[in-house]
Amino acid sequence: MASIFFFIIIIIIFSHFSDAQLTCTSQKFTNNKLYNHCNDLPHLNSYLHWSLNPSKTTLSVAFLAPPATAAGWISWAINPTGDGMAGAQALVAFKASNGSMVVKTFNISSYSSIVEGRLAFDVKDKRAEFSGGLMRIFATVELPEKGMTMVNHVWQVGGSVSESGFPAKHGFQPGNLAAKGRLDLLSGQSTGGGIGGGGDSRSKKRNIHGILNGVSWGILFPIGVIVARYLRTFPSADPTWFYVHAFCQVSGYAIGVAGWGTGLKLGVESKGVTYSGHRNIGITLFCLATIQIFALFLRPNKEHKLRFYWNIYHHGIGYAILVLGILNVFKGLDILSPESKWRSAYIIAISALGVIALLLEVITWIVILKRKFASKSTKPYDNKQQPLAP
Ligand SMILES: *[C@@H]1O[C@H](CO)[C@@H](O)[C@H](O)[C@H]1NC(C)=O
Ligand SMILES: *[C@@H]1O[C@H](CO)[C@@H](O)[C@H](O)[C@H]1NC(C)=O
Repeated sequence: MASIFFFIIIIIIFSHFSDAQLTCTSQKFTNNKLYNHCNDLPHLNSYLHWSLNPSKTTLSVAFLAPPATAAGWISWAINPTGDGMAGAQALVAFKASNGSMVVKTFNISSYSSIVEGRLAFDVKDKRAEFSGGLMRIFATVELPEKGMTMVNHVWQVGGSVSESGFPAKHGFQPGNLAAKGRLDLLSGQSTGGGIGGGGDSRSKKRNIHGILNGVSWGILFPIGVIVARYLRTFPSADPTWFYVHAFCQVSGYAIGVAGWGTGLKLGVESKGVTYSGHRNIGITLFCLATIQIFALFLRPNKEHKLRFYWNIYHHGIGYAILVLGILNVFKGLDILSPESKWRSAYIIAISALGVIALLLEVITWIVILKRKFASKSTKPYDNKQQPLAP
């Protein structure tokens, strides 16, 4: 019962994250271009996707926003000298009178001086699209300074454009006024711009995937195996060990399936890049674990002659999951390459479990040997007492 509630909670958390906060990760582009980072900007329902080139000299961006009206404009700007509109070097997109989308560049040196023309940095390959209510600006910009990884950016939407192609003033709602921030091009973190700075949604999603799977396959499953293997040596732990074991494995399965779902979604989203080893192990794990859940319902009675084969099957698959689960956590850590403290934390946790298992193994053998010794002197050996037989 508890597991079912647990499962529902996990699903709610999962769907909350994927719907409410991770819109940009599901946005696709017509040319299948994939950006390394994306951010659900905190105002004006806008989204920014970007990739920094390896030498940190240019930045490819896609900026998406709904214009205030269909005849309006959207704009994204870097401000190399300040943090608001004054000084911003802006890309502005709107629908020209001939019907095609255009991108223009504006040097906004102050609120009263908005001049179309060259920006403080080069802009290449600029183009725009308009469909489904969203305008999209694509461009590659030369970074104001080589190697910089933090930029102040500003974004805006407006309702109309003059005959000569000059954007009219935008609205002055709180969202319009707060649409600015400081963006970390490497981590994707965005600060400023009022409440809810917004993180890099793609990294956030990868982290959720990592935590769900690390906890389930990497920790809960091993604990469940340890409980099953060692606690039942002690008659006083019967049948408690069984419930603890089932609880660990079923809740591990629920969290694992949620984590597996996030993994599949990440896989679908990262078109160009596939981590086939990690993915295949993940799919195998899901199949094996699902078989294990069935094992719970198909379990023959202790005295049944099929119970011997059921044990082989249940234990065999269990150990396979144990090994593959831990292996895949490490493969995932390689892909995610989080701060080293996360890898260290997992290594410490799994080593602690390993040490506990080793100690319990020793204790178990002592108990068994004692028991054997005692039973030889008093009564015949009782086969059912032997805990380690499969
Ligand atoms: C439409 O007008 C813009 C400038 O207003 C121009 O750059 C573009 O080439 C024109 N497109 C067509 C198809 O004429
Ligand atoms: C932008 O405008 C300001 C003020 O007119 C000027 O000083 C600056 O050189 C301009 N920037 C570019 C790149 O033309």
